[in-house]
Amino acid sequence: MKCMRFFLTHLLCLGLSLLSTGGDAQERFVYSGFSSATNLTLDGVAGVTADGKLELTNGTLQRKGHAFYPAPLRFSPNRSFSASFVFGILSDHAGLSAHGMAFVVSGAGVDFSAALPSGYLGLLNVTSNNNGSSSNRLFAVELDTMQNDEFGDLNDNHLGVDVNSLRSLQSYSAGYFDDNGEFRNLTLISGEAMQVWVEYDGESTQINVTMAPLNVAKPARPLVSAKYDLSTVLTDASYVGFSAATGGTLRSRHYVLGWSFGMDGPAPAIDIGALPKLPPVGPKDRSRVLEIVLPLATAAFLLAVGAVLFVLVRRHRRYAELLEDWEDEFGPHRFMYKDLFHATEGFKSSHLLGIGGFGRVYKGVLPVSKSEIAVKRVSHGSKQGMKEFIAEVVSLGRLQHRNLVQLHGYCRRKGELLLVYENMSNGSLDKYLHANDQAPHKLDWVNRFRIIKGIASGLVYLHHEWEKVVIHRDIKASNVLLDDEMNGRLGDFGLARLYDHGSDPLTTHVVGTIGYIAPELGRNGKASPLTDIFAFGVFMLEVTCGQRPVKQGGRYNQVLLVDWVLQHWQNGSLLDTVDIRLQGNYDANEASLVLKLGLLCTHPFSNARPRMHQIMQYLDGDMPLPEMVPTHQISDMVVPFQTEEFHRYDTANLLSKASNGTISSLSGGR
Ligand SMILES: Nc1ncnc2c1ncn2[C@@H]1O[C@H](COP(=O)(O)OP(=O)(O)O)[C@@H](O)[C@H]1O
Ligand SMILES: *[C@@H]1O[C@H](CO)[C@@H](O)[C@H](O)[C@H]1NC(C)=O
Ligand SMILES: *[C@@H]1O[C@H](CO)[C@@H](O)[C@H](O)[C@H]1NC(C)=O
Ligand SMILES: *[C@@H]1O[C@H](CO)[C@@H](O)[C@H](O)[C@H]1NC(C)=O
Ligand SMILES: *[C@@H]1O[C@H](CO)[C@@H](O)[C@H](O)[C@H]1NC(C)=O
Ligand SMILES: *[C@@H]1O[C@H](CO)[C@@H](O)[C@H](O)[C@H]1NC(C)=O
Ligand SMILES: *[C@@H]1O[C@H](CO)[C@@H](O)[C@H](O)[C@H]1NC(C)=O
Ligand SMILES: *[C@@H]1O[C@H](CO)[C@@H](O)[C@H](O)[C@H]1NC(C)=O
Repeated sequence: MKCMRFFLTHLLCLGLSLLSTGGDAQERFVYSGFSSATNLTLDGVAGVTADGKLELTNGTLQRKGHAFYPAPLRFSPNRSFSASFVFGILSDHAGLSAHGMAFVVSGAGVDFSAALPSGYLGLLNVTSNNNGSSSNRLFAVELDTMQNDEFGDLNDNHLGVDVNSLRSLQSYSAGYFDDNGEFRNLTLISGEAMQVWVEYDGESTQINVTMAPLNVAKPARPLVSAKYDLSTVLTDASYVGFSAATGGTLRSRHYVLGWSFGMDGPAPAIDIGALPKLPPVGPKDRSRVLEIVLPLATAAFLLAVGAVLFVLVRRHRRYAELLEDWEDEFGPHRFMYKDLFHATEGFKSSHLLGIGGFGRVYKGVLPVSKSEIAVKRVSHGSKQGMKEFIAEVVSLGRLQHRNLVQLHGYCRRKGELLLVYENMSNGSLDKYLHANDQAPHKLDWVNRFRIIKGIASGLVYLHHEWEKVVIHRDIKASNVLLDDEMNGRLGDFGLARLYDHGSDPLTTHVVGTIGYIAPELGRNGKASPLTDIFAFGVFMLEVTCGQRPVKQGGRYNQVLLVDWVLQHWQNGSLLDTVDIRLQGNYDANEASLVLKLGLLCTHPFSNARPRMHQIMQYLDGDMPLPEMVPTHQISDMVVPFQTEEFHRYDTANLLSKASNGTISSLSGGR
């Protein structure tokens, strides 16, 4: 029984296939190359070349070309069909071609005279396409090499299935899925021959389109699949063939090399070996392209080089730096001017943190590390001594203590030195101390005492704990900066000099700010740790009293803060000197300790001053302050300042600060 059924179906199939091939031979054909005798219905610029290529367009602009199988085919009812063809597209311009070609089944005859070239591919016109109506009776597989947004094209290299409209039912970028199911793209306008298979199953109404290069067998997975009942489109007298069109600018040629068709079954195989060859992508064409493109490209290149040179020269000028051989060893501490320029947004005035005696200080953010910095721009005239100065700056950059402002490095330009410090978000202490407001003070006693102890600890580090004795030389409230937690940090080592442990301080330059200068420093210009301690003593008094070191005592009178505090101590009213803006909110023991210690540190005899580590012990309460009687009167001990004794800081004219004006006005006032 089973056997019988198998036999019957087999016989039936056999009979059918016999019927289709034998009974209707017109419905099955194959052209492996064409000849003039092929008798296709051609129109437009279409023609068959001598070597057997079907040339749909010949390179003339704005043209269409059609080629149809001469006899109509019976597509209904619900019949399946398959077609296969080999095509090639050539263009005068590498990488550009217009507009495309299509395999066509037309249910409405072969008169396409009303159709448009270019984007319409010689198939439809504006109205008929817009209408997309079933009266168009058109099925096409387009190989579109231009992207027309009005048709919803996905790119300029796609294959689409169209029914009655150029707006494709389905489309996909040209290419194929290989045996592993991976997509491999193809370029329609590559000038290479490629094969396309179109299959329609009348029962399931499934349309499959597949493409592949000539040397690849038909891929198993179709590139585009669509479902559409073509019985509503195709009639009993429908024509199969091709259409192609060019546009207004690109001279493209569209070729079909071979074609086969089969109704109710697979299309016969095309004999690939017998196909005519596509013309090579001609060297003549290429040279013509070069003729136009080369001069343009050369001009563009020269222009680009010019522009780049211009930008480089401008950058070079803008970011010019001074860099000498001896700086090699300081490499890691050397900043690029460009980075500092960008960090501070071109030293914008909105980034200005303050103006000190030596120059302007700008806030910035380093490009890579995003760390906040303060850049001090110091102008200097001479190069003399710069090497020693930089060596010092770099060595100071190695100092690290939580109460010192970290010096990151430097940069040098013509006539200018830039010092790069860690940014202190709360600015300098003197702004808080000498603010004009009478409001309850932002700096309460606890903060002030903590800042004093912090600076003392920083100085202990400089004087005793580092490998060399570092004399700061310019301790004062404006050189104490406050970080985001209001910790005091000693800054501005720009002027400090280094002394080896034990060696004799050998310098004759006076650096410092009036009011903080120890009497012996004023006389002999020799800075020492003890002159730092003097300045620190003045600083302690300044912070506690909220008064500047040189107090405006009366209308014509300037009084040294030290003398004023001493006077009060002698009168038994020491605590009257504490900043009135604290409104009595302070620890009397601590305040009196700081005031007495301040006076001790400012003792006119340097040997009577305590050392930094002792000061620290007094402040920490680890040691009681020695019993003292207020006796000395500092101003009596000071030999009147002789301005001639003050030498300029020779390295970089840095001494504009210890201005002679202040000094002489002080001595003149007394
Ligand atoms: N590292 C820094 N972080 C934040 N602000 C700073 C820093 N260094 C300096 N400044 C600001 O710039 C001003 C001038 O600095 P500076 O030249 O050191 O002053 P001076 O010459 O009076 O010692 C300071 O008053 C301070 O407000
Ligand atoms: C070419 O086609 C026409 C009709 O379109 C037909 O009359 C003619 O016989 C055909 N010639 C050949 C060689 O097939
Ligand atoms: C293309 O064909 C048309 C008509 O057949 C002809 O006028 C034109 O010169 C041809 N163009 C080229 C480039 O061969
Ligand atoms: C064509 O197929 C449709 C369903 O796909 C069916 O309804 C219709 O009857 C068929 N027509 C003929 C003539 O077989
Ligand atoms: C567009 O094509 C249709 C059908 O081919 C034709 O009837 C109509 O006249 C054409 N319209 C124009 C504006 O050419
Ligand atoms: C669209 O097609 C219908 C017939 O299918 C026709 O009556 C109508 O005029 C067409 N519209 C346009 C704008 O061409
Ligand atoms: C096609 O594939 C090649 C490599 O396989 C790739 O270089 C190229 O960019 C692809 N082109 C497109 C349009 O995807
Ligand atoms: C179309 O492709 C699908 C998936 O590969 C396949 O199942 C179907 O049989 C194909 N139909 C035709 C008509 O080739």
